[in-house]
Amino acid sequence: WRELTHVSNLVEEIVGSEVSIRGRVHKRLAKKMFVTLRASGGGFTVQCVVEEARVGANMVKFVKQLSLESVVEVIGVVSSPPKPITGTTQQVEILVTKMYCLSKASPDSPLVVEDASRSEADIEKLEKDGQPAPRVLQDTRLNNRVLDLRTPANQAIFSIQDQVEIAFREFLHSKGFRGIHTPKLMAGSSEGGSAVFKLDYKGKPACLAQSPQLHKQMAICGDMRGVFEVGPVFRAEDSFTHRHLCEFVGLDVEMEIRNHYSEIMDLVGDLFPFIFRKIEERCPKELEAVRKQYPFQSLKFLPETLRLTFAQGIQMLKEAGVEVDPLGDLNTESERKLGQLVLEKYKTEFYMLHRYPSAVRPFYTMPCEDDPNYSNSFDVFIRGEEIMSGAQRIHDPQLLEKRASECGIDVKTISTYIDAFRYGVPPHGGFGVGLERVVMLLCALDNIRKTSLFPRDSHRLAP
Ligand code: 4AD
Repeated sequence: WRELTHVSNLVEEIVGSEVSIRGRVHKRLAKKMFVTLRASGGGFTVQCVVEEARVGANMVKFVKQLSLESVVEVIGVVSSPPKPITGTTQQVEILVTKMYCLSKASPDSPLVVEDASRSEADIEKLEKDGQPAPRVLQDTRLNNRVLDLRTPANQAIFSIQDQVEIAFREFLHSKGFRGIHTPKLMAGSSEGGSAVFKLDYKGKPACLAQSPQLHKQMAICGDMRGVFEVGPVFRAEDSFTHRHLCEFVGLDVEMEIRNHYSEIMDLVGDLFPFIFRKIEERCPKELEAVRKQYPFQSLKFLPETLRLTFAQGIQMLKEAGVEVDPLGDLNTESERKLGQLVLEKYKTEFYMLHRYPSAVRPFYTMPCEDDPNYSNSFDVFIRGEEIMSGAQRIHDPQLLEKRASECGIDVKTISTYIDAFRYGVPPHGGFGVGLERVVMLLCALDNIRKTSLFPRDSHRLAP
């Protein structure tokens, strides 16, 4: 038994030492018997040299028949290569003395990790040089997600996602919020509309939670003051778009407010720049790895988050020749256009739009005191796409019941929620964010499926 050295620790300083390493066969140059080994957990690669003089003819034969992606353990000596190595992350090489196969990969793999790791620019360059450079289609990637996840960009994306979640919790804990977990099996829908997965709950009709909305508010009714949740959210979306999933990770917050719903926006305005800075500080290598395959510019954001009213937003659109119903909603196109206009005028790709028309907000949204056609609500955008919606909530049970029925919700199915308000509740509000959307937009990726480990969409329930 020997201690394994991770490939990322194979550096000049340990030249001359004997090490045991583990990884997958990433590439093989048959003629010279160079094997590139790729370690798990970040796409680190090292070149292993298999010389007959050192290992014997049988070992050379064994290495030659190893299929790509097989998991091997190698014992060898760390050495400085005669000339600089290209195509591996480590600049030293391993002079192999022994190699064992721990798990053989099937040789007819539907996806070659090296192909799946190339940027568009790399593909074009290879094509120009007349070398084969297959493009790996999104469905091929997703059908073979365990292979696709092995690319350096994917390894980095899920580390960034983890850090977004960590920073979200860290910030909210520092402000005295408590993490909670609300039920995902519900008697009625929490957001209304048709995007709800219905199921049978021991003979009773039930559904999967479309958000933690009702229970996070009920936590405030239970005097929990400020709460957050990181958990699954289910939406029976029909739309097959670049930004809709049927299951995503929701980052939710609910809090008491003292005077005004702007207190919630104050929190958001501090929380997200905190997250963005933490990602820059903690994930420089990961951002670089994503950029290498999917080039993007760092997000532009202001120290003080920009806030515009919905009316100001549609005025900007109007001046640019885009008409939007002042009591309607923005569609994807107008959101994108407004994102461009905001970037030109205010030099930021992260901003909030508030005072939305009541008609386009969920039933629990508090109408504005001065004009009930508008509401104490807001959306937040990164690079012209929505990542969050939030609002002050109605805390008067009669009004809540009335608004729910007007929105077509069967109030019987949410009676325990409405009842929760009958015993007194402080004014409160909060917001919900889609984690996959945040990571997608932070890295300017073109599709939310790239930031979901095993995406569920209107066509996909496996793997
Ligand atoms: O705008 P939504 O539906 O708002 C709510 O769920 C409210 N309960 C939030 C609140 O506290 N007022 O969803 C919130 C966020 C969206 O901005 C978006 O980022 C994400 O959740 N989201 C989705 N992400 C992926 N796929 C989908 N189908 C999504 N639907 C919403």
